[in-house]
Amino acid sequence: MAVSSPRFEVRPLSAAIGAELIGLDLTQPLTDDDIRDVRAAWLEHLVVVFRDQGLTSEQYLAFARRLGEPGHYPFVAGLNEHPEIIAVEKLPGERNNFGGIWHTDTAYLPQPPSASMLLARVVPPEGGDTEFANMYEAYETLSPELKATLEPLQARQCSALADVSRTRSDRVAHEAPKKQSFEATHPVVRTHPETGRKSLYVNVAHTSHFEGQTQEESKPVLQELFAHQVQPQFTCRLRWEVGTLAIWDNRCTLHNPINDYHGHHRLMHRITLNGDTPT
Ligand code: SIN
Repeated sequence: MAVSSPRFEVRPLSAAIGAELIGLDLTQPLTDDDIRDVRAAWLEHLVVVFRDQGLTSEQYLAFARRLGEPGHYPFVAGLNEHPEIIAVEKLPGERNNFGGIWHTDTAYLPQPPSASMLLARVVPPEGGDTEFANMYEAYETLSPELKATLEPLQARQCSALADVSRTRSDRVAHEAPKKQSFEATHPVVRTHPETGRKSLYVNVAHTSHFEGQTQEESKPVLQELFAHQVQPQFTCRLRWEVGTLAIWDNRCTLHNPINDYHGHHRLMHRITLNGDTPT
């Protein structure tokens, strides 16, 4: 049954994924029922979006803590006062947008985040949208034969593949040197710990190969999955405004920020919520 709340209206962003939740002011205290309903809408729509939220960093963190436990990102230091918040930023003179490739956040960690949150602080006059894709639907629309092939497979997830490393280059240029790379092995078909639904857990940014196969051997099937999983019917596209806050379920979605705003500044504040070991 579709989630409803007496306190907000749910307006889907597409048939596949995403919904705006209209009516809540996140600067005001939320009740436990509000948080339960927001979580339910998030589990159902995978991405939930709130508009016009003029939150301070303290209010943003306080809201995040109602939903889970904020974690730390390994490549970029957080804000001085609030290390759990990182700046996802592209300056007018830069060419690379951070994370500008279809991916799920930090799939190369043993326990990737359950949720990622972005609060838009500065947006370009146009462009800089983010696309999201529904990995339940990507899995469910595979043929029974391919599902059976993928079911027992594990895949190697790496932080240092060339295409994704390039997207971080402008940001990490300002950082003190850190551990260079991370790797983890996770199931290709992941079961969501809260909904019990299966989703496709590979992505072009981080997935290197299937365990027990070489990169060359894995490539044809992986390339097919990378193309399949981001077809338009699985996606929505979010247009940001200053004060837009989005929360996505990092366990069953991919996202792709579009790099079409050279010469303009875009600044997002990101919080990730700790997750568990994919199974
Ligand atoms: C990210 O991958 O966390 C950045 C997404 C965005 O900038 O829209």
